[in-house]
Amino acid sequence: MTMTTREEIIKALSEVRHPGRNDRTIVELGLVQDIDIKDGSVSVTLAFSKRRDPLSEYIIGSTRAALIRNLPSDVRSEVKTVVVDEVKEKKKPNVNDLGVEQLKDVRNIIGVASGKGGVGKSTVAVNLACALARLGYKVGLADADVYGPSIPTMTATEGVSPMAEEQDGKELILPIEKYGVKWMSIGYFAEKGQALIWRGPMACNALKQMILQVKWGELDFLLVDMPPGTGDIHISLLQDIPVDGAIVVTTPQKVALADVEKGVNMFRNPGVDKPILGLVENMAWFTPEAHPDEKYYIFGQDGGAQMASSLGIELLGRIPLVQGLRESGDAGEPAALSSRPDGVAFIELAGRLAKKLGL
Ligand SMILES: Nc1ncnc2c1ncn2[C@@H]1O[C@H](COP(=O)(O)OP(=O)(O)OP(=O)(O)O)[C@@H](O)[C@H]1O
Ligand SMILES: [Mg+2]
Repeated sequence: MTMTTREEIIKALSEVRHPGRNDRTIVELGLVQDIDIKDGSVSVTLAFSKRRDPLSEYIIGSTRAALIRNLPSDVRSEVKTVVVDEVKEKKKPNVNDLGVEQLKDVRNIIGVASGKGGVGKSTVAVNLACALARLGYKVGLADADVYGPSIPTMTATEGVSPMAEEQDGKELILPIEKYGVKWMSIGYFAEKGQALIWRGPMACNALKQMILQVKWGELDFLLVDMPPGTGDIHISLLQDIPVDGAIVVTTPQKVALADVEKGVNMFRNPGVDKPILGLVENMAWFTPEAHPDEKYYIFGQDGGAQMASSLGIELLGRIPLVQGLRESGDAGEPAALSSRPDGVAFIELAGRLAKKLGL
C-alpha cells in the first residue's frame, strides 16, 4: 500500500485556485479545514462560510480532481465540507517579526558545527535527522545557515512555502514535514536562485526566528545545522538558543585538527559553555561504489580518533566518502533512508547519540 504524507496532500491542494479570489489557492485562503490520512485513504474537509460561495461546487470538484491527479492510484480520497461562521485566511509568515520561545517540548537541542566549511555538516545533520527518525524518535532540523541554506536541496523541499499559524496573538511558522522529520530553513522564504544578502543583525534575527518562531511541537531532538565558521553570529546564536550540546564534524586530515579545535572552543567559550557530545569523522575512508568492501584511507587513517582523544571528546561516528552519498544529497533523498553502507553509518551514529543522551 502506498504511503501518502500530509505534505503531498497540501501540495496537491495548492493546485486548486479560487477564481473569484485573485486565483489564490484554497490552502492560502484557509479553506482546508482538516486533512485525515488513514491506511490507504485520504479525507479532506473544506470549510465554507455561511455566506454561500457561488463557486463552492466548482472548488469541491477541483479539489477532488487535484487529489485524484496527484495521489497514487491505490489511495482512496474524498472531499467533505463544513459550514463555519468565518473562514480564517492563513497568513504567510512575516520573517521580520521575532517571536516567542517555542522550544518547551523539545528535549534535546543539538548544534551540528565545524571549524571550517565544506566538511559535510549539512550532510551529517540531514542524515542524522533521518536516521534518528528511522529509530523512532521525533526529530526536527533547523537550517541555521542563513547565507547558504542547503536543507531544501538536500531534502528536495525547494519551492515549498511554510504556512503560518496564529497562537496567542503571535505568528508561528509551521515546519515542513518530510521523511518523518520537521524541517525549517530560510531557503523556504527566498525566491529560487535569489542570493540571500543580510546585514549582520538581520542575519542573526532571521536565524533565531528559524528556531524560536517555529511550531516544533514535541521533539526528542532538534538539530541545528550551523553555518560554517566560528564567528559572532555563532556565539550570538548559542547565547540565545538553549542548545544542550554540540556535535563537531571534521574530515580526518591532520591539518583539520586546528579547525576542529576552533569549533570545540566555540562551545567551550565561557560565554557559551555547552557540552560537546562528540566528533563525527566524515569522509573517514573512500569506498568505490563497485567495490563496497574496499576502504582507502586517502586522508589518513584514525585521524578522527586521534583528534577526539587529544580534545577529550568522544568519536561518535565515522562516515565513508562514497559517491552515492553526494548523489543522494543532490537528489534530496538522504542516504540514511537507504540500507547502503553510508546509510548504515548514519543509523549507527544516531544510535550512539541517543544512547549518550540516555534515550
Ligand atoms: N561522506 C561523503 N561522501 C561523499 N560526498 C560527501 C560526503 N560528505 C559530504 N559530501 C558532499 O560534499 C559537499 C559538501 O557537503 P556539505 O554541504 O554537507 O558540507 P557543509 O560542511 O555543510 O558545507 P558548508 O560549510 O558550506 O555549510 C556536498 O556536495 C556533499 O554531498
Ligand atoms: Mg552546510
